[in-house]
Amino acid sequence: MAALALAGCGKKGAGQKLYGPNCGICHHGGYGLPGEVPPLVGRLDLIAKTPEGRAYLARVMLNGLDGPIKANGGRYNFSMPSFRRLNDEQLSLILNWLISRGTTNPAPVITPNVFAAARKEEIGSNRVHDLREGLAAQGKIP
Ligand code: HEC
Repeated sequence: MAALALAGCGKKGAGQKLYGPNCGICHHGGYGLPGEVPPLVGRLDLIAKTPEGRAYLARVMLNGLDGPIKANGGRYNFSMPSFRRLNDEQLSLILNWLISRGTTNPAPVITPNVFAAARKEEIGSNRVHDLREGLAAQGKIP
């Protein structure tokens, strides 16, 4: 039991360590920057509740995101780069760390195979934006 808990801790630490140099430069602590960078903490756990939401998050990481968006009622319009250079395991560690910081209990989990599936289909960041619009219209993105 103790060993399991420690393993969990290590994974959390790995996600946080990867977040710093890759994401922190824009997303800072994960709470967003008005008008520029949307908050992630407290939102990704809600998006990751549905399979479509998890697939969307994987597509953002592997293709980037471009175009005006609304998050928590605020407007953002800037560019999120693709993180295809990180592997599926690294991407899942980062996102699961962010998801675990929300209020959803138990926190949803994105497994590496969701990233592997999205990696096979390279699409434009503007198409990721279209996907997001569709999910937002269905109330699946806060
Ligand atoms: C160069 C700055 C930059 C970096 C680096 C960056 N992001 Fe982003 N991210 C953005 C911007 C800007 C947006 C919103 C894009 C828009 O306005 O269309 C965004 C959007 C997102 C979204 C979609 C949120 C939503 O509501 O749909 C996720 C998820 C995300 N970023 C996660 C990450 C993670 C995880 C990392 C690190 C691996 C990262 N970002 C690195 C700037 C960045």
